[in-house]
Amino acid sequence: RAGPSADPVAARRSAAFARLDVDFDAAFGDRPTGRLRAPGRVNLIGEHTDHQDGFVLPMAIDREIRLALRPRDDARVRAVAVDLDERHEFDAAAPDRRDGWEAYLHGVAWALREAGHELRGFDAVFAGDVPRGGGLSSSAALELAFAKAFAVAGGLPWDPVAMARLCRRAENAWVGVASGIMDQLICACGREGAALKIDCRDLSREAVALPSGVAVVILDTGTRRDLVGGAYNDRSAEAADAARILGVPALRDLGPADLEAREHLLDATLRRRARHVVHENARVALAADAMRRDDPVALGRLMNASHESLRDDFEVSGPALDAIVDLARADAACYGARMTGAGFAGCAVALVEERAVERFVREVAQRTRAAAGGTEPRLFPVAASAGVGRFEEEGPEWGASGSRKASG
Ligand code: GLA
Repeated sequence: RAGPSADPVAARRSAAFARLDVDFDAAFGDRPTGRLRAPGRVNLIGEHTDHQDGFVLPMAIDREIRLALRPRDDARVRAVAVDLDERHEFDAAAPDRRDGWEAYLHGVAWALREAGHELRGFDAVFAGDVPRGGGLSSSAALELAFAKAFAVAGGLPWDPVAMARLCRRAENAWVGVASGIMDQLICACGREGAALKIDCRDLSREAVALPSGVAVVILDTGTRRDLVGGAYNDRSAEAADAARILGVPALRDLGPADLEAREHLLDATLRRRARHVVHENARVALAADAMRRDDPVALGRLMNASHESLRDDFEVSGPALDAIVDLARADAACYGARMTGAGFAGCAVALVEERAVERFVREVAQRTRAAAGGTEPRLFPVAASAGVGRFEEEGPEWGASGSRKASG
């Protein structure tokens, strides 16, 4: 295995953290004592199933929020969002309602206190390269980064699953999105080199490696849609209605044949919603099987079927997503493509022959630009990375050497 200097991801991280040190000094006239990273994620398949206790297959990615901090002796938190050039200060013992990134910070403080944790404050700067609001879980990354910051500052025990639950609670109760557990869980528990098949009922996880010779490419349409209080909550409520009418705790409790036998109980809309969730759960199992037998063709087909179902039955795709997915699929190197995340706008994901990635990225971007006009698509390959973690400062040469010690 190559050393850290030969690893481009580690090199990129080192440079980014070195810059954060400079920002920390500019903001607080001091050096940070702790550094941490919290990754975004891409979901390969299993979309809009987690709010129905279903199955998902996401991977944490090498796009992340990075945060540098220094604990304080009181409960004040002073935080600087470097990318936005915004600064915010509050008392962790008395978080109030907020908008924007501050809502995540306050929500996490609230959820930690609700869980009985005593909070110590900190000074922090953070920055990242997860596209914001685009379906790659920039919000979960932010939540887990703040939770980890409180844990580091206050010496709180770090149980990844408990922290994922708590961050979801912050998102549900404080930010106002009735999301499932997928994003927070994969951000907390991601594994380098593998996707995780997650059972969103008992939260059990199984690492599944990608087929050999393929790359995962993000297709960011450049379009955005705000999730808060919107269509996401409507769709998850419809799925819950369908489960109630069908007499099951969640749609996860029905297989395709069960649903067929009972779907006459549902009106046309709820029938389509239920169909998506039930068949998508079945596709997750098949996708994990395809990955285990190293079959990218089968995996790609399942991703395509997932997109069609999200577009036609769950109705959470959008014109820009449909267009970029079609253009990606038309490329000979593409095994399959689908929207990823909550949908409506933002990012899609494609499974692409590894040796053709550079050409694929260039040409699909060109074709999308020509077809769409206006929004600027961005395509980039991502690698499966570890979940939220801490970097320890070992000395001033840390940034230059790129040496990394992950812990906790
Ligand atoms: C958002 C939510 C997740 C999940 C996806 C759709 O990312 O936060 O809980 O429901 O949408 O699969």
